[in-house]
Amino acid sequence: MVFHKWAFAVLHVLALFSSISWFDGVFAETPTDILQRAKQPEMLEWLRHIRRSIHEHPELGFEEFETSKLVRRKLDELGVQYKWPVAVTGVVGFIGSGRPPFVAIRADMDALPIEEAVEWEHKSKIPGKMHACGHDAHITMLLGAAKILQERKDDLQGTVVLLFQPAEEGGGGAKKMIEAGALENVEAIFGMHVVPDIHIGAVASKPGPLMAGSGFFDAVISGKGGHAAIPQHSIDPILAASNVIVSLQHLVSREADPLDSQVVTVAKFQGGGAFNVIPDSVTIGGTFRAFANNTFYQLKQRIQEVIVSQAAVQRCSASVNFFESDRPFFPPTVNNKDLHELFSGVAIEMLGRTNLQEMQPLMGAEDFSFYGEKIPAYYFFVGMKNESQGPLASGHSPFFTVNEDVLPYGAALHASLAIRYLNLLQSSQAPPSHVSSDKGSHDEL
Ligand SMILES: *[C@@H]1O[C@H](CO)[C@@H](O)[C@H](O)[C@H]1NC(C)=O
Ligand SMILES: *[C@@H]1O[C@H](CO)[C@@H](O)[C@H](O)[C@H]1NC(C)=O
Repeated sequence: MVFHKWAFAVLHVLALFSSISWFDGVFAETPTDILQRAKQPEMLEWLRHIRRSIHEHPELGFEEFETSKLVRRKLDELGVQYKWPVAVTGVVGFIGSGRPPFVAIRADMDALPIEEAVEWEHKSKIPGKMHACGHDAHITMLLGAAKILQERKDDLQGTVVLLFQPAEEGGGGAKKMIEAGALENVEAIFGMHVVPDIHIGAVASKPGPLMAGSGFFDAVISGKGGHAAIPQHSIDPILAASNVIVSLQHLVSREADPLDSQVVTVAKFQGGGAFNVIPDSVTIGGTFRAFANNTFYQLKQRIQEVIVSQAAVQRCSASVNFFESDRPFFPPTVNNKDLHELFSGVAIEMLGRTNLQEMQPLMGAEDFSFYGEKIPAYYFFVGMKNESQGPLASGHSPFFTVNEDVLPYGAALHASLAIRYLNLLQSSQAPPSHVSSDKGSHDEL
């Protein structure tokens, strides 16, 4: 744990007396100032232009070569140093003193294999690929933060590490970034996601478990094919697979603690091709989700056992594949409690108390969780909803759109969180005299 307990105690005490944080004292600007900077017309134009050119050229996981090139070109223009390639297409930028503390802010770069259905000037130019999850906005917001931070590089109380990571959508790009050393020296990390159902100018998150751990499975259930009118000469894998699916549904309803949220979904069922032929085999596949690590692995073990044993009841054999090497399990995303305090402080100062929402955990998964396994991490959602502009489609829909008004909020939040973290760490390592005298004789406690 990188935080000194007393630093947070001081943060709380000071928060009682002042809406302007003492921790930004070394840095005269508040999160509100940073948001104002991000909303200047020239900045909005810069952000929109970047986001639209990324949107027009979506690339799938580990193929983000043009996107990566654009990121590097923008970092070059800003004079930000970076390492590349990290995990195939990833880019790791550095702004500040080059010395500890190091804090990371992260964006994911990959698009989805979806054909864009939105008709607009900057529609995807690549058939069958689309930024339908807002990663184009995420990259842009991180570049916006880079611009803001680079303007203040001489005042930064440490080093901000910018992580532009590939392959969030199932590829486990975060894991590869870590293996390539992207978290070297880094003590904490922040990440965010745009969402259509929270108001523009508002953010949502929670301390502790935020998103579920996620795994995929696939099983081939094999019997013996034959004529559909002479079933006694066949071993029917369709019936066996049907019973497997029903039995899998009992794992959550009968074996799981009702207060420990879990999901098992069979989303794939493929077998047979004729009205009168019993096929040799059936393939089923799906996903499982859980918040606690032991629950997750228990579920995995029971999925394996249920598929094999239930198939055997109908004389079928089954092989189960969890794709651990090419589709690593995503651990649950768990928000560090101290970083939640820090985030809440920044969000309240920048956006106002009513625009900070505490949310329920989600069964969706996010590969940001790999960072959280290594260092204190914090993930949150940034709203895009604006009633006067009509409803927005949800992520992974071919009708997904980004409300570009979100871009300055994301940039300002990234930058302010990094600045606040560095200032806090700096002051906890070298306490100014008035703090120790305030605490007086309690110091030894
Ligand atoms: C989760 O459990 C698995 C299997 O028991 C173990 O290998 C892994 O290290 C655990 N991970 C964490 C983060 O505790
Ligand atoms: C919401 O949309 C309206 C109409 O485009 C715009 O005037 C307003 O500034 C937007 N609100 C926010 C907070 O961006």
